[in-house]
Amino acid sequence: MSESHTSILLEMRAISKSFSGIRALEDAHFDLRRGQVHALVGENGAGKSTLIKILTGVYPCTDYAGEIYLDGCRCRLHGVSHAQAAGISVIHQELSLVPPMTVAENIFLGREPRRMGIIHWNEIYRRVDALLRRIKLDIDPRAPIYALGLAQRQLVEIAKALSNEARILVLDEPTAALTEAEIDVLLAIIKDLRSQGVGIIYVSHKLKEVFAISDRVTILRDGRVVGTYATEALTEARLIAQMVGREVDQQFPKSSHTLGDAILQADEITVEDPSRSGKRLVDRVSFTVRRGEVLGIAGLMGAGRSELLMAIFGAYPRHATGSLWLKGQPVRLNDPCEAIRRGMGFVTEDRRRYGLILDQSVLHNLTFAWLKHSYGRFIIDRDAEVALAENALREWQIKAASVFVGAGTLSGGNQQKVVLARWLLNRPQVLLMDEPTRGIDVRAKQEIYAQINALAQSGLAIVLVSSDLPEVLGLSDRILVMHAGRLTGEFSRADATPETIMACATGERI
Ligand SMILES: Nc1ncnc2c1ncn2[C@@H]1O[C@H](COP(=O)(O)OP(=O)(O)OP(=O)(O)O)[C@@H](O)[C@H]1O
Ligand SMILES: [Mg+2]
Repeated sequence: MSESHTSILLEMRAISKSFSGIRALEDAHFDLRRGQVHALVGENGAGKSTLIKILTGVYPCTDYAGEIYLDGCRCRLHGVSHAQAAGISVIHQELSLVPPMTVAENIFLGREPRRMGIIHWNEIYRRVDALLRRIKLDIDPRAPIYALGLAQRQLVEIAKALSNEARILVLDEPTAALTEAEIDVLLAIIKDLRSQGVGIIYVSHKLKEVFAISDRVTILRDGRVVGTYATEALTEARLIAQMVGREVDQQFPKSSHTLGDAILQADEITVEDPSRSGKRLVDRVSFTVRRGEVLGIAGLMGAGRSELLMAIFGAYPRHATGSLWLKGQPVRLNDPCEAIRRGMGFVTEDRRRYGLILDQSVLHNLTFAWLKHSYGRFIIDRDAEVALAENALREWQIKAASVFVGAGTLSGGNQQKVVLARWLLNRPQVLLMDEPTRGIDVRAKQEIYAQINALAQSGLAIVLVSSDLPEVLGLSDRILVMHAGRLTGEFSRADATPETIMACATGERI
């Protein structure tokens, strides 16, 4: 279909929005055509989520300047349900499911089909079953959300958006928590919707997906639209240069770490599934890490990698067994505070659950592990604390008005940087990292890679869990592979290839 024949579904004109003096968007314009996938890209804090929140009624029409047109008609959206009624469905970057409620309840929350005024549960379960089948998600519709992992929650979120018969579907970083196979399913669903004429807005830091799925791309930088392009007219390098304002070398920084003696030794770590007795999430995993070493742990979603890190950090008090030694001293497996005191840090994958306290200041989030560390040794020096935090903002280029703003006001990627910066203030000797670059833009990723290398060179031991295979391959000195709770492979950096790692990760090769 030639562009001029594709009709315009949505137009956003001259959109500007500030948050107490900070400009998140300035004179931004955006249009979406029927049956197209339109990618929205830009660095952390560029304004992508803000534009999405304006379109989906999170910020009503009284909260910003500019105009929205749907099918050529001016449309003043007064709130989320108004946008939904107008056929705009969204999956936000920060998941919005209600944990104590079931999958089915969440999917139809607030718009339950009724018969004679009574919620028609049979109808709900029938429709939820069909939706779950459609996205190939094999879970019980009656399971509470809190029992699900992050990837499954993400997929439930997608099922919820699909249940709405949307004309416009907006996905803000939908694949951040998904595995390759799950991403393929999602991309297939998107293509299917596109062929049915749905207009799709796709926000992602994963440029491969952007190129695989989108028809057009709009690039935001510092709240302004740099340009809109046909995807086929762009190259990855050109797209990045437009986002960042300069060329970025995407190679992994070559670095050789000098390995010292073993600092962390884990022996037969086992984690019982708290929700199903007899099932093991982690099954007798043993390994050592040396000072200055980056140990990568590869595997598919559900392989038990996060659970392994959590157990080592003491976050599975009643369900983890095995032995752990730090610098030759035994460490109990049931006490995160002890783990922190002994010099462990833990960058978590789910920053909402374990990483950040969103309604507390950036300052507090940055320094509370540090305070715990130094507590009792001297009286807290507020000026020193603030100086330390301000320094961290500069060093990590965290986009925040000051250290006193709430952590929840930062963009997704900038929140992740706060989590990373916080643990390093604590000067750990062993740093456990679970998906540290999730939601992070290309430039910041390069900075984090450089930091990881510098930290290893300074003697820190790093255990890195990442679903990004090039990342694991590019950073690790040694790579362990897990499948179904067990170790199924070990490779040196030189021996590891994507194929051998995948073979071990799928359990094909042990
Ligand atoms: N509720 C808020 N209060 C104050 N500032 C905010 C709020 N929401 C967003 N901002 C600011 O607006 C700017 C744009 O943020 P936005 O979340 O739109 O970025 P983004 O492009 O989605 O980034 P990311 O890739 O990290 O998700 C940032 O500087 C952010 O700190
Ligand atoms: Mg965002």
